Amino acid sequence: MNHYDLAIIGGGPAGYTAAESAGKNGIRTVLFEKNNLGGVCLNEGCIPTKTLLYSAKVFQSAKDSGKYGISCENIKYDLSKIIARKNKTVRKLVAGIRAKMNEAGVDVVNGTAVIRMQGEDEEAKDKLSIECNGQVYTANKLLLCTGSETAIPPIPGLKEIDFWTHREALDNKEVPESLLIIGGGVIGIEFASFFNTLGSRVIVVEMLNEILPGTDQSLSVFLRNELTKRGIVFHTGAKVTAVTPKSPKGDFQVEIEKNGELLRIEASKILLSVGRKPVLGGFGLENLALEINNKGLKVNEYMQTSHPDVYACGDITGYSLLAHTAVREAEIAVAQLLGKNEKMSYKAIPGVIYTNPEIAGVGQTEQALQEEGIPYQVKQLPMSYSGRFVAENEQGTGFCKILEGPDGTLLGVHIAGNPASELIVIAGIALEQGMKAEELKRMIFPHPTVGEIIKETL
Ligand code: NAI
Repeated sequence: MNHYDLAIIGGGPAGYTAAESAGKNGIRTVLFEKNNLGGVCLNEGCIPTKTLLYSAKVFQSAKDSGKYGISCENIKYDLSKIIARKNKTVRKLVAGIRAKMNEAGVDVVNGTAVIRMQGEDEEAKDKLSIECNGQVYTANKLLLCTGSETAIPPIPGLKEIDFWTHREALDNKEVPESLLIIGGGVIGIEFASFFNTLGSRVIVVEMLNEILPGTDQSLSVFLRNELTKRGIVFHTGAKVTAVTPKSPKGDFQVEIEKNGELLRIEASKILLSVGRKPVLGGFGLENLALEINNKGLKVNEYMQTSHPDVYACGDITGYSLLAHTAVREAEIAVAQLLGKNEKMSYKAIPGVIYTNPEIAGVGQTEQALQEEGIPYQVKQLPMSYSGRFVAENEQGTGFCKILEGPDGTLLGVHIAGNPASELIVIAGIALEQGMKAEELKRMIFPHPTVGEIIKETL
């Protein structure tokens, strides 16, 4: 029988981070993964979308080059080459994870792992037991990192048509003439930005009154306005009531209800992006009888489930659904296994939308502070206060907004404009450290950088 100190199910950012860290710390670890290492993030999420979005950005920059005194003629893109580069990038990074597992001495088993009923094996009654590819493995501790999957809402007609999820959108061979996106969340808006840049007519249908719920509304409004200027049509506060195939050619008709009116919109493709849900089935979870809450698998601040030897990290908890949260949760779980007493903190998890332009936020939004009755003051400056931003973004707009408590403690930072995804790291560190505005302001920011906008705004 194969016995390990730690068995991990799922090789995404949570699983591979925990495996690497455990292995390097001398914990005998086995990692089960049924697909490629890297999970959704590396294979069909964060990395492939960012690769595609970068190609779209290069294309846009070439088209805008005249603004910078450069002339480019006959600017074209080749989608098959864009997709091929995306696939190459993914392959390279997956190979990198495999190499890390080897270096850390982690045994990787490629197959579907299923947890067995405890006590099923006579010799290993007190151990956790897992079956994979017909072999039984036992472990003292188990870490569940099975991730999340696309949620499919009960929209009439949806099941009968060939709609896209993020997966098909990443591998399509041609740019659709028109694309209707159901759900104006993170996935929907990033793909809206990509296909709009490549020339599709993009329509976004969002159930709520504003896109990107959970994001500070000033950022959502900024991005919606920017993308509207680029030709994307938004229907917010709109409910999809039916989807039908319009003709055998593959076009679709989507019926939406907005302000009591019924609208019919035609589109050559439909992308569904109304959220994701934790994967709780298909790996014998029922054999452990763990506590589940309304989001996903319940864990405490040490990432322990209701079974003292079973841990869970990442999207399976349904809490944050972000790769960077999963990575930190994995570090916490391994720290706990090593007897260190670290607790998970969700205070400063940055949220980034990698559109062009990017938006990013960390900490509290103004709406959350208002709802909770927390007093705050707003400091805000346009991005044009940064010399570097002006130098590199001809006619570019954006802003940096900082929310402070009455004693100057940083509560939230929200940035619109490139490269918000990188700038937000500075704010995240300051927030996690509980810094006050005056403390962050004392730091030296290199000049000229766009990051100086944070110092200016403080
Ligand atoms: P989401 O939860 O971000 O957005 C779903 C949107 O669909 C919401 O705005 C919701 O109001 C809307 N919606 C729900 N039902 C609807 C309906 N029937 N009709 C119209 N609109 C409807 O989910 P999304 O975009 O699918 O992304 C899933 C997860 O993936 C997110 O939780 C996110 O954390 C993660 N992700 C993160 C990225 C990033 O950090 N840049 C990029 C892509 C995904």
